[in-house]
Amino acid sequence: MPAPTPAELTEYAARRQRLIRAMGPTGVAIIPSAREVIRNRDAHYRFRQDSDFLYLSGFNEPDSLLVLVPNRKEGEFLMFVRPRDAAREIWDGRRAGPEGAVSRYGADQAFVIDEFDKQLQDLLAGRERVFYTFGEHPEWDPKIAACVREIREVSRRGAAAPTDFVALETTLHEQRLIKTEAELELIRHACAVTAGAHVRAMRATRPGGWEWAVAAEIHHEFERHGMECGYGSIVGGGDNACILHYKENESPLNDGDLLLIDAGGEYRGYTADITRTFPINGTYSGAQKAVYEVVLAAQVAAIAELTAGNASSRPHEVATRALTEGMVALGLLSGDVDSLIADGKHRQFYMHGTGHWLGLDVHDVGRYKIDGVARPFQPGMVMTVEPGLYIAPGTPGIDPRFHGIGIRIEDDVLVTASGPEVLTHGVPKTVAEVEAVMRG
Ligand code: GLY
Ligand code: MN
Ligand code: MN
Repeated sequence: MPAPTPAELTEYAARRQRLIRAMGPTGVAIIPSAREVIRNRDAHYRFRQDSDFLYLSGFNEPDSLLVLVPNRKEGEFLMFVRPRDAAREIWDGRRAGPEGAVSRYGADQAFVIDEFDKQLQDLLAGRERVFYTFGEHPEWDPKIAACVREIREVSRRGAAAPTDFVALETTLHEQRLIKTEAELELIRHACAVTAGAHVRAMRATRPGGWEWAVAAEIHHEFERHGMECGYGSIVGGGDNACILHYKENESPLNDGDLLLIDAGGEYRGYTADITRTFPINGTYSGAQKAVYEVVLAAQVAAIAELTAGNASSRPHEVATRALTEGMVALGLLSGDVDSLIADGKHRQFYMHGTGHWLGLDVHDVGRYKIDGVARPFQPGMVMTVEPGLYIAPGTPGIDPRFHGIGIRIEDDVLVTASGPEVLTHGVPKTVAEVEAVMRG
């Protein structure tokens, strides 16, 4: 990821200022970067920065810490980063070093990471609330706990020790939930490229092909746009579509089966999350079409609920009702729709939620309920809408024509003052549209 542009630096500074205001003058925030993770022996997984860290700095290196200290006279924004190291940089790549953290990332002061222990006591002394999420950073938790203990021991003679440790849910994560214009630009791009990748996958799919070959079409489309997967792609043909987190992508594609693809490209940290389910031979069978129309109607009805002021639980309620009515119409369930839902009978075929916040994390931060009540939608929130029906192979008592059909349809939707805006409209969705693209 390149160093931030001047406009991006301004955006990051504004985000930090918002957090500083939310913390109050006696707060201090300590936000660790992600670490490199070993895949096997000497090989690492591709590095992915911690989303909070990226959101506040755009800094994409491991082994770093970002500290915000309101009203500190030497500066409020500190970074602790890896030192410049000619030998390591020849092997592992460029490092900004403390100088670069100041000149290119706008830190007021920057130090090498090994300085953190020495500085910590000064940074915490006299601060009441520490915005740091314990339990997620095993390498830092003991150091921070020990430092607070030391300050407490000497506090009779000097500055008071912090009394509160606060997770970031009610400050930074609330901020991240409402996307800025700059974020929406990146999300729109991720959505547009991902939509193109799904269209490409539809065109590349044919009986006799392989799930991994279709996955490769999608991943090539991401990578040729400088993107990567925002999560593990699900490319599941036939019965595999009934495994919600199917990840092997290793089976042949059979004539007459459906292919479910759930894949999203990540652009500068922001991911899309799209699912489409289409016929491998280009034409839905009668049974497939019947189930598809039920899921599609539920999805369209749920999307309409993403209006400002509406409870954020509404899309799931509306989708659940529409799906359950459809399950009765298809003969998958029988009985009164309200009782079926109350008794959870729909869960045999619809066992997941209808959506989640989307942003830097595919399951993005932000609370769904406040004081136990579903929060209302606000402009700037982005949520997925992804109902589905999954009829496991061999389900007793169900018409065999439906066995092994798994269908999910997922779009990414922005709440605006004038209604829901579907950001992933570039992928066909109706039966006629999908079949036309596959013919074309
Ligand atoms: N791809 C993950 C999800 O749809 O939630
Ligand atoms: Mn998905
Ligand atoms: Mn999703």
